[in-house]
Amino acid sequence: MNHDRAIPSAMKSKNSPRPILEIKNIYKVFIKEGSRFLALEDVNLQVNDGEFMCILGPTGCGKSVTLQIVAGLMEQTSGFVFLDGKEETGPGPHKGMVFQEYALLPWRNVRENVELGLEIQGVQKAERHKIAESQLANVNMKNTSRLSIHEISVGMRQRVAIARALAPDPKILLMDEPFDALDALTKEEMQIELLKTWEQTKKTIFFVTHDVDEAIFLSDRICVMDINPGRVKKVLVNNLPRPRHEKVKRTDEAFNELREEIINLYSSLMEEELDLIV
Ligand SMILES: Nc1ncnc2c1ncn2[C@@H]1O[C@H](COP(=O)(O)OP(=O)(O)OP(=O)(O)O)[C@@H](O)[C@H]1O
Ligand SMILES: [Mg+2]
Repeated sequence: MNHDRAIPSAMKSKNSPRPILEIKNIYKVFIKEGSRFLALEDVNLQVNDGEFMCILGPTGCGKSVTLQIVAGLMEQTSGFVFLDGKEETGPGPHKGMVFQEYALLPWRNVRENVELGLEIQGVQKAERHKIAESQLANVNMKNTSRLSIHEISVGMRQRVAIARALAPDPKILLMDEPFDALDALTKEEMQIELLKTWEQTKKTIFFVTHDVDEAIFLSDRICVMDINPGRVKKVLVNNLPRPRHEKVKRTDEAFNELREEIINLYSSLMEEELDLIV
């Protein structure tokens, strides 16, 4: 099937896509056991406003390092990160973050966790409550605000983490394998809910995963990374129709085609790796 991969579906409705995140010439060197280890080599990537970008690649290729540099939690060795045209040098509530280990504070209840970024921003109590309740409703967590973290399931904790990240109305949502610890059914449910939230909020999402099907189900584009050193191998456009949960099945021909293209790319990465070892 020859489907059009020229323009991502979420961008078709917009006149001209505006880059919100620009990653330019990023290098990251670690010192490991006394020697230099090049984790990222000249990573360049643009993410458009409202786009759902997935970063996919084998373990150790530098997905999390890239995301942490974008988040401002780790400093690059050289290169630049621009968010909405401004150079980024540290963390802040304008970058919402959700990680696999949801990092909620157990001594705060559900609503108090969602309010965290708003407190840092100095938002008044009544307004904080209002925003937190509305964000909780968005992620299907109505009437849970007084529950404590240990009373809710792992999937619900990840919803709270998403509500917390969205509460300060960030410019971008950065997610690092957020559903990896979930069972298959909960994972699929969370993917559908995340897409609904994305469609409602029109937030730009930068989503790290090593799950090929997850990247295909969620993304507008998929940035496939290469390893040793970590770098961008190829950026694929994903034109599967939306809303995905209604229009796309993981057994569809177009889904299979994209999966095959990615798996072939991976195989070529592995062959290059073997060539290096030989
Ligand atoms: N703080 C650190 N100090 C030294 N090396 C590091 C550090 N953080 C990451 N690395 C190395 O950088 C490389 C990329 O790591 P990264 O965590 O980004 O991989 P990843 O693509 O996210 O893998 P995974 O899919 O397993 O999460 C790895 O070789 C890792 O060991
Ligand atoms: Mg990682």
